[in-house]
Amino acid sequence: MKIQDFSLRKQQKQKISMLTCYDYTFACMLNESPIDCLLVGDSAAMVMHGHNTTLKISVEMMAWHTEAVSKGANNKFIVGDMPFLSYRKGLSENMDAVQKIMCAGAHAIKLEGAKGNIDLVHHIVESGVPVMGHLGLTPQSIHQLGGFKVQGKNNKEYQQILQDSLALQEAGCFAVVLECVPTLLAKEISEQLTIPTIGIGAGPYTDGQVLVLQDMLGMGKTFKPKFLRTYAQGFQMFQDAFKEFHDDVTQGSFPSEKESYL
Ligand code: KIV
Repeated sequence: MKIQDFSLRKQQKQKISMLTCYDYTFACMLNESPIDCLLVGDSAAMVMHGHNTTLKISVEMMAWHTEAVSKGANNKFIVGDMPFLSYRKGLSENMDAVQKIMCAGAHAIKLEGAKGNIDLVHHIVESGVPVMGHLGLTPQSIHQLGGFKVQGKNNKEYQQILQDSLALQEAGCFAVVLECVPTLLAKEISEQLTIPTIGIGAGPYTDGQVLVLQDMLGMGKTFKPKFLRTYAQGFQMFQDAFKEFHDDVTQGSFPSEKESYL
């Protein structure tokens, strides 16, 4: 998939599939899959580094994850997330951060929110870097939002998110992620925008869907939000493999003669 294909897909009413990816091993696997594009999300802070918010990940860490993914998934369109506050400094520092993510192998960057970002989005796009927006539940603002909860439920928030999506499109974004918003708001935005919307917890009417890889593989034991569909029982599958290895080792059946050098 190339940047032009995002709007083409929308025109042709063909949905876009996106998954997060943070490492080389999964990138190699996803490279052989039909998934349309990969997001090196700042959710890496939680999924890969065990933090309870996305705030504690730096530009350098995001660049390492992006580089690992780009080595493994050389056939995929890769979006690299701009981490917390990395694009809310002076223009020169903001652009340094964009440069680090792009030079690590991303084909586009993603940033959260519209307010205060519109001029920057213009500038990044004019500098030749595609920008994906992100509205609704924007996890980098978690302390202002007061928790991980659905956004846009009241009329004021609804109108604000709708206006923000139009402003991001106007500023040059090629797509917008809508996270945890009511289905009808996501539908209205998807109808009003000419660029595709990619939903997570935003119902069925967005132009594409994104999930966190480890969540959709059922690798977490406890994280089961309403919007999540799991496509594998990863946690149990790996536990079974670990137990089998442990039993083979402790019972002396691994390694066999065939698995040993003469
Ligand atoms: O960081 C991330 O994984 C994301 C997705 C939830 C869209 O931003």
